[in-house]
Amino acid sequence: MKLKVKQVVKKLKTKNSYLIQIPLIAGGKRGNLSFCELKKQIPFNIKRVYWIYRVSFKQSRGEHAHKKTEQVLFCLQGSIRMKLDDGIHKDNIILNKPNIGIFLGRMLWHEMKNFQKDTILLILASEFYKEKDYIRDYNTFKRLAQKQ
Ligand code: TYD
Repeated sequence: MKLKVKQVVKKLKTKNSYLIQIPLIAGGKRGNLSFCELKKQIPFNIKRVYWIYRVSFKQSRGEHAHKKTEQVLFCLQGSIRMKLDDGIHKDNIILNKPNIGIFLGRMLWHEMKNFQKDTILLILASEFYKEKDYIRDYNTFKRLAQKQ
C-alpha cells in the first residue's frame, strides 16, 4: 500500500522504516486531536492494536524483529528512545510527539527504552499476534537479515 508522500516526514537510515506525520487539530482551550486513516497515513490493513504503558525507565521492551508484521507506533504520552537495526544500518531516535509515528517494516530489530513516567505507546499492527512471526534471538536475526 503506497502512502501519500507528504505523510512521510523523515526517512531513517534503517531500511523499511520512516517517520509519519499525522494531522494535529489544535483546539486551543478545547485541547488537541490527532487521527490517522488507512492508506492516508497507515500503509497496511490494521488487524491488531495494542498499547504499552507503565514501563519503568530502566526497562527495555521489544528486542525482537518480525518476519512479516508491519507496525506503526505512536508515543501518545511521554517519551521513549527507539533503537532500530536492519542488520547493517542503525537508528536511534526519540519518539515524543503524539502526532509523529514511526513505521516499522519487516525484519527490523527494534528496542524501546528510556520510558519516561506515564508514557503510553500505541501500536497498530498489520497481522494478528503470532509468536512464530517473532525473531527473538539477535544472532538469528543478523543471519536472516544478511541473506535478504
Ligand atoms: P512482546 O511482543 O514480547 O512485548 P515486547 O515487544 O514489549 O517485548 O509481548 C509480550 C507478551 O504479550 C508475550 O507473551 C506475547 C503477548 N502478546 C499478545 O498475546 N498479543 C499481542 O498482540 C502482543 C503484542 C503481545
